[in-house]
Amino acid sequence: MTKKRRSENWYGKLDKDGFIHRSWMKNQGFPDHAFDGRPVIGICNTWSELTPCNSGLRDLAEGVKRGVWEAGGFPVEFPVMSLGETQMKPTAMLFRNLLAMDVEESIRAYGIDGVVLLGGCDKTTPGQLMGAASVDLPSIVVSSGPMLNGKWQGKDIGSGTDVWKFSEAVRAGEMTLQDFMNAEAGMSRSKGVCMTMGTASTMSSLVEAMGLSLPTNAALPAVDSRRMALAHLTGKRIVEMVDEDIKPSDVLTKQAFINAIRANAAVGGSTNAVVHLLAIAGRVGVDLTLADFELGSDVPLLVNCMPSGKYLMEDFCYAGGMPVVLRELADQGLLEGAQTVLGRDISAYAGGAECFNRDVIHSWDAPVKPAAGLRVLRGNLAPNGAIVKPSAATDALLEHEGEAYVFENIEELKATIDNDDLPVTKDTILVLKGCGPKGYPGMAEVGNMPIPRKLVREGVRDMIRVSDARMSGTAFGTVILHVSPEAQAGGTLALVKTGDRIKVSASQGILELLVDETELAERRAAWTPDEPHYTRGYAKLYIDHVLQADQGADLDFLVGKDTRLVTRESH
Ligand code: FES
Repeated sequence: MTKKRRSENWYGKLDKDGFIHRSWMKNQGFPDHAFDGRPVIGICNTWSELTPCNSGLRDLAEGVKRGVWEAGGFPVEFPVMSLGETQMKPTAMLFRNLLAMDVEESIRAYGIDGVVLLGGCDKTTPGQLMGAASVDLPSIVVSSGPMLNGKWQGKDIGSGTDVWKFSEAVRAGEMTLQDFMNAEAGMSRSKGVCMTMGTASTMSSLVEAMGLSLPTNAALPAVDSRRMALAHLTGKRIVEMVDEDIKPSDVLTKQAFINAIRANAAVGGSTNAVVHLLAIAGRVGVDLTLADFELGSDVPLLVNCMPSGKYLMEDFCYAGGMPVVLRELADQGLLEGAQTVLGRDISAYAGGAECFNRDVIHSWDAPVKPAAGLRVLRGNLAPNGAIVKPSAATDALLEHEGEAYVFENIEELKATIDNDDLPVTKDTILVLKGCGPKGYPGMAEVGNMPIPRKLVREGVRDMIRVSDARMSGTAFGTVILHVSPEAQAGGTLALVKTGDRIKVSASQGILELLVDETELAERRAAWTPDEPHYTRGYAKLYIDHVLQADQGADLDFLVGKDTRLVTRESH
């Protein structure tokens, strides 16, 4: 070994400081040889019973430890904040950047040489990657893995996606409340993340496409014994990575992000990938912009999983998983050279992949849907951009002009959406304000507003909805999201009034408020922001410093990295 290990600054010193660092660690029963200069591997764990999607991570941590010991390393597991998407209020996204801070400072403060990131539920993967990227020690991901397929009344049901469908069916009087309640336990039958191609599985798929995990990490079910073996192999690999000095900045190149954008289109991935990839890129100094997401717009939808298709992650795994998708991209010359945690090019992840079910993973020549990648929309209503996911939308609505019906905030929407006299038709464009990063705060997943009950009863299941919010990766519909700047930051969205006409064209990338400039200037002069919902603590820090959606909604002072070794001691 030529390079001095980082951990030697903690455990290699024969002085008072070295004594303190080693002695207190030995109270856990670690022998002398744990401190003999071997790589110290941090296992950064987002396990929590309040994050049910990550509840299998304690087991996987044991698998990682086996691999680290086997390869001659010293594994040390540490907890970081966990973000339970279905449990946190007002939204887990408010805390993604706080998790990233926790991860970054934990890694920096402790005597470790490399990190295994154990995450899964939506915000945990990007939060961990953002934090790890800002320290830039060798890092590799092991994901929770998806739950087994949901089952109810003899049918497969998907996390999230079928919740939205069932809830609309109850509102339409087509499903009993008792049936609705009965479906709960059938939907979530095992440990693991949502088994639709929601945000969690999207992010683990993109992690694999960027070469940040071992191959097959995305789709192996959480309870499949092969995931434990994958954790073991990852533990072995991180020890090698430390010696090879493969860091996030080596893997997270612009090309890796472009590969991820294309993979996101092919899997029908979540719109949330946009804010997360932009934020991660900001940490490593890659110049990624919203416009780069157009690179995926011509990529066809290959993976037939909910919410864009009909299957679930377990089916995706058995059909061959991400290696098949990567092979399809590689065959088109769309998976371009990028370093991975294996120390090899990303093409190594695709090599030899075989598809075992072409109805689950379609071929490039017979896709589920052509040109299905996210579309970026711009215009006076979204000067800095907005996005729509055509694969989950109604084709006919992607080119539309209609009258706006405006909800000034989420409370107004919830109080009035089911009014029988709501003046809306299927051609109305629903507009929701105050749900962006600063406004909610935290940019909640409320962009897929419910269809007004009077229209649900008429059989309407989709209409155009426009907001500064996000939507769940498991959701679907012609939903225009991430309008930037948001209403609370004084974006044009704040000026929209009921009855205004809005033009949407996904093919031309247009989102235009058809109100003349003089009128808009008058409205702007009369506009004032709402009082912030929080005036102290982390939420205030967030409101004061969060960037807009088109910049990844990171905190402005967290962008970039600091890789210096901390040399000062506590005693
Ligand atoms: Fe945790 Fe979907 S709610 S992954």
